[in-house]
Amino acid sequence: MRVAIVGGTGALGLGLAVRLARAGVEVVIGSRSDARAREAEHQVLRAVPGALARGAIWDRAADAGEVVVIAVPAAAQEATIRFLAPHLQGKVVVDATVSLDPSDPTSAAPPPEGSCALRARTLLPPEVGLVAAFHTLSGRLLADVDRPVTADALLCGDDPEAKETVAGLCERMGIRPVDVGPLAKSVVLEALTGILIGLNRRYRRRHVGVRFTGLSDPSSPPPLAAWGISGR
Ligand SMILES: NC(=O)c1ccc[n+]([C@@H]2O[C@H](COP(=O)([O-])OP(=O)(O)OC[C@H]3O[C@@H](n4cnc5c(N)ncnc54)[C@H](OP(=O)(O)O)[C@@H]3O)[C@@H](O)[C@H]2O)c1
Repeated sequence: MRVAIVGGTGALGLGLAVRLARAGVEVVIGSRSDARAREAEHQVLRAVPGALARGAIWDRAADAGEVVVIAVPAAAQEATIRFLAPHLQGKVVVDATVSLDPSDPTSAAPPPEGSCALRARTLLPPEVGLVAAFHTLSGRLLADVDRPVTADALLCGDDPEAKETVAGLCERMGIRPVDVGPLAKSVVLEALTGILIGLNRRYRRRHVGVRFTGLSDPSSPPPLAAWGISGR
C-alpha cells in the first residue's frame, strides 16, 4: 500500500508520514515545492531510518498514491482538490482538512457545505472513495514515533471499502480506528479539532485526544441489521 500525503510538509502531514513509515507503509510526501518535499523526505528518513519514503511535487505524489491524504490549510483545500482531481480518479482520498475561526481557533468555521469533507465531496470525481479522518490526532504526537498514540482515529465516509482501507492503515500505525458513520458526521469531527485546541490551552497540554469507551472491538462493529438499522 502506497500512501501519498498532499501537504505532507506540514505538521499533520509530516506526522502521518512518519507514523506510516514507521509502520512499514510506503509514503510519498507531496509538496508544491520540490525542495520542501525533499526536506520532508529527509525528516522522515531521520525519524525512521530505512523507511520507504520519498518527496514529490503534489501531482506526482497524488499519481503515486493508492491512498491520497489531503492535509492542507482549509483556505487552500478547494484549489488543491480542483488542481489534483484529475490525479485522484479511482483512489481512496482521505480529507483531514479543518476550517477554524481565525479569530478563535477553538471554534470551527465550516464552509457553506457544512464541513471541509463535504466540500471535498462536491469537488472530487464521484468514484473517489472519500473518507474524512485524522482531525482529532495531533501531528506533533504522530511525529514522535516512540510515543504511543492512545487516542482513537475517528473516521467517517459513505464508502465502506474506502473506510476499511483507512481503518487498516490506522491499525498498522497502532491507532484504534473508530468509524463514526457517514461523511455527514465530518461536521462533528471537524468541530472537535477546535475543542481539542481549547482543551490543550485550558489544561496546558499538547496532545489532548479523543478515545471512546465501551467499544470492545471498534474495527469490527456488529452488523447494522443486528440493531435493526438499515443505513450506514
Ligand atoms: N496540525 C495538526 O496537528 C492538525 C490536526 C488535525 C487537523 N489538522 C488539519 O489538517 C490540515 C493541515 O494541518 P497542518 O497543521 O499540517 O497545516 P499547515 O502546516 O499549515 O499546512 C500543511 C501544508 O499545506 C501546504 N500549504 C500551505 N499553504 C498552502 C496554500 N495556500 N495552498 C496549498 N498548499 C498550502 C504547505 O505545504 P507546501 O508548502 O510544502 O506545499 C504546508 O506545509 C489543516 O486543515 C488543519 O486544520 C491539523
